[in-house]
Amino acid sequence: MGSRETWATRLGFILAAIGSAVGLGNVWRFPFITAESGGAAFLVVYLLLVAFIGLPVMLVEFVIGRESKQNVVDAFPAIGYGNWKAIGVIGSITGFIILSYYSVVGGWVIQYIFGSLTGAYTGSAEAYFGQVSSGLNTAGFDLLFILLVAGVVGFGVRDGLERAAKLLVPSVVGLMLFLAVYAATLPGAAEGYAYYLSPNLATLRSDALAILPAAAGQAFFTLSTGVGVMITYGSYLDEDRSLLRDGFVIMLADTCIAVLAGLIVFPVFFAQGIAPGDGGIGATFVSLAGAFTTLPGGRLVGTVFFVILLLAALTSAFSILEVIVSFIIDTTGIARSYATAGSVAGIFIVGLPTAFDLQYLTVYDAIANNVLLLLGGLLLALFGGWVYATDAITEFSKGLTSPQFIPKLWIWVLRVPVVVVLSYVLYQNILDVIQTIQTSLL
Ligand code: PHE
Repeated sequence: MGSRETWATRLGFILAAIGSAVGLGNVWRFPFITAESGGAAFLVVYLLLVAFIGLPVMLVEFVIGRESKQNVVDAFPAIGYGNWKAIGVIGSITGFIILSYYSVVGGWVIQYIFGSLTGAYTGSAEAYFGQVSSGLNTAGFDLLFILLVAGVVGFGVRDGLERAAKLLVPSVVGLMLFLAVYAATLPGAAEGYAYYLSPNLATLRSDALAILPAAAGQAFFTLSTGVGVMITYGSYLDEDRSLLRDGFVIMLADTCIAVLAGLIVFPVFFAQGIAPGDGGIGATFVSLAGAFTTLPGGRLVGTVFFVILLLAALTSAFSILEVIVSFIIDTTGIARSYATAGSVAGIFIVGLPTAFDLQYLTVYDAIANNVLLLLGGLLLALFGGWVYATDAITEFSKGLTSPQFIPKLWIWVLRVPVVVVLSYVLYQNILDVIQTIQTSLL
């Protein structure tokens, strides 16, 4: 294998992993899914799933990555479990599909930067979204987004990812804090906070099971877990690091940013008199553009916001492409630049339908995010909890400073609650996808 690059600094790794986690999932997907699923009750279920289902699976990925020091597919034979290679293959395919439509939404963001600068969506937020979200222009900006991502991945781990993340993550956080404070001054703020933050216990009790499938998909998507990103990032890690502490920091940062995004978007919904849940896949874009139109200084604020969103989306997209590219490099031995160019071309072609029709975007998202991602998560939990457990505990314990029972607790959480919850949501989501395909495409 030769010597593999490692992260130059601990901060570099943490920031790159946070950069992967924080993206369109937090800013675009989280608010509209939360709005569609009833607000505060969804938030509660989602937060529980992130902590007790998502984090344990993310830790399985770190352990596999650090022990094997390989890409997602070769990681399994390298630790002695070649039979489980399928997890890596499924992960790479999932990443491929996610990136194919993620880039389309990334392209929307670029168009919204221009829209804010020129005032193109002023007074016609709805119409502008229609124009931006499908057509030849959408495909063009999709391509531009993919090329930006490929540029960074092409430079390699330390030079590309780490340098990018160091710069981007802090600016994302800073700019979003500024906007959350700004949103707090809007007339709809109090109503927005109430919808978003104060769960009704009765609703929670009656709807929790119905909320679970969408919340689980969002939890894995936002943590970048289930694709193998965290296997690949973990493979560049040294052994003196506490995986638990790193995982916790990454989860916390990602969650704070999603919650922060809600603190921006929900006051805006109510300030605009938009009923949360009415907007669908474009809700975040339409409502924000509507808000930026009427607010004093809105064009400037809008430009800043969409630049933030673009930066956040780029660091996430890098991580997915890195999984695919490192797999291709380690399997075929071809140069990084060729591997990058080849994958990018494939991703663009596969994503084209989603650039021309929002129905396809919905279907791709449902398949990749609510089914394949959770399938990857379930397989990782089964593998980590039941097959690889002894070695996993040994690897997990390296660099760990917390009490002895923690590794065992982690394994038992994977074995039972994670497996049960993921089996249930996967089953529900498969039924749901079949229905989505029937209603939107057939
Ligand atoms: N976590 C990213 C986001 O929230 C998306 C992502 C999913 C990245 C899966 C990598 C793997 O936008």
